[in-house]
Amino acid sequence: MARGPSTPVGVFPQTRMRRNRRWDWSRRMVRENLLSPDDFIWPIFVCDGKDRTEEIPTMPGVIRYSPDRLPAAVGEAKALGIPSVALFPATPAELKTPDGAEAWNPDNLVCQAIRAIKDAHPDIGVMCDVALDPFNSDGHDGIVRDGHVVNDETIEALCRQALVQVEAGCDIIAPSDMMDGRIGALRKALDANGHDRVLLMSYAAKFSSGFYGPFRDAIDSAGFLKGESKDTYQMDPANSDEALREVALDIDEGADMIMVKPGLAYLDIIQRVKSQFGIPTFAYNVSGEYAMLRFAADNGALDYERVMMETLMAFKRAGCSGVLTYFAIDAARLLNGE
Ligand code: PBG
Repeated sequence: MARGPSTPVGVFPQTRMRRNRRWDWSRRMVRENLLSPDDFIWPIFVCDGKDRTEEIPTMPGVIRYSPDRLPAAVGEAKALGIPSVALFPATPAELKTPDGAEAWNPDNLVCQAIRAIKDAHPDIGVMCDVALDPFNSDGHDGIVRDGHVVNDETIEALCRQALVQVEAGCDIIAPSDMMDGRIGALRKALDANGHDRVLLMSYAAKFSSGFYGPFRDAIDSAGFLKGESKDTYQMDPANSDEALREVALDIDEGADMIMVKPGLAYLDIIQRVKSQFGIPTFAYNVSGEYAMLRFAADNGALDYERVMMETLMAFKRAGCSGVLTYFAIDAARLLNGE
């Protein structure tokens, strides 16, 4: 029997999800998340010296800058629309000590870097890590006594570290050390010294991760850590409820923003944090995640721009307000049509 044009074709679906995907304009109409340079915090490594840059072999395309080279580099980030940068010093080995005292030297490398940036660009946000690992001859984030990273004594050191950074002009203090109670102690120390405008971005859910490897090369802490783990203070990758407790404590102690770190393997944590607390939540798209995509792309296995943008979008989709990412400059250039 011949089928006329009005024959009902009941076997076909009423709802066709593909209809919205048919055109570029229709895909743009229904897109749920957008990326913009506003979403990026650019982590920058700083090295000693004048008019110097250094390559980092385990992070191709990422370089360390001497402080005098930072105004130009940060100027480019600013021109691309990136709102803030995060600074990480590669402290000369001879300045590393068991107590990490270089951390609270007001003329240390990171303070020189802050001043160089703020003099040239007062309107870009500068964020600094608070943790002793760039300064500590044990490579740990805190002070080691009898083989153990001690909590309360470390917090006193971290408060001194934060104060010199803030006095040099740092806008956001970002404790990455995972000591208990440090957010409350830092808030008190900052406020007592007239710095109540300074923001606290807590690395609240920071996991003990293999993905930090290239970063430890970049700040030259790997050789000092000598293969020891940070498992007694950073979180167990098996845990998720514990991450929510960490975040709850840090919000209670006065954190303005929360970070989850690493990012890619922890998108579930980001989503739980954001939906439970509704606080500005950031991901650190860490060095190993950068290296993974970069080495694969450099060897022809992946399309660099495509996987970079897909990765950054995943953080937005999971609920992030923004991402610390070594891709910041490349991604912002792409978004600006460069
Ligand atoms: C140190 C710190 C680390 C990172 C940021 N701050 C490494 C660590 O905890 O050993 C990692 C960042 C990255 O891998 O890109 N407190």
